[in-house]
Amino acid sequence: MILTLEGFMGSGKSSVGRELARRTGWDAYDLDALIVQRAGCSIAEIFRDKGEAWFRQLETSCLEEMIARYEGSDLILALGGGAPLLNARLLHERTECVYLRASLQTILRHIGTHDATRPLFNGDIQARMDSRDPVYTSAARHIVDVDGLRTEAVAGQILRLLGLE
Ligand code: S3P
Repeated sequence: MILTLEGFMGSGKSSVGRELARRTGWDAYDLDALIVQRAGCSIAEIFRDKGEAWFRQLETSCLEEMIARYEGSDLILALGGGAPLLNARLLHERTECVYLRASLQTILRHIGTHDATRPLFNGDIQARMDSRDPVYTSAARHIVDVDGLRTEAVAGQILRLLGLE
């Protein structure tokens, strides 16, 4: 099964991905880390030097490659917050996509009010969350409300939802 984790920046995708990997023993990756590896520079540098559209294209090809590589076997893939923007349908049809839904309060508690490594974490964050929510919902097969839950509890819920525990 290809299990993808989607949600806004700071919703806990990477930490939950690591916890799921520990509990399942499956291969696990962070899509952002694969992009950085491929580009040879940081996410912030990609946005600064090439722009968001270029980043989205690279993000989409890295995602497509991982899905093709793991089709028929087991993978945990923590996505970047914007990965579903161009790929909601692909995620819904070809992966078990879990939406980690969080409130602004939770996001701010995880990230703070500023993060130089996240070029899109600025402006009206609630408005960006609201505009993404329908995209995340359309890609998802399952939604977990993560407010007030520790990483271990979120991972536990996901394993039960997917019948893996
Ligand atoms: C983005 C989220 C980031 C990263 C990039 C763009 C977004 O990943 O992919 O900065 O558009 O929401 P995280 O969700 O891991 O912060």
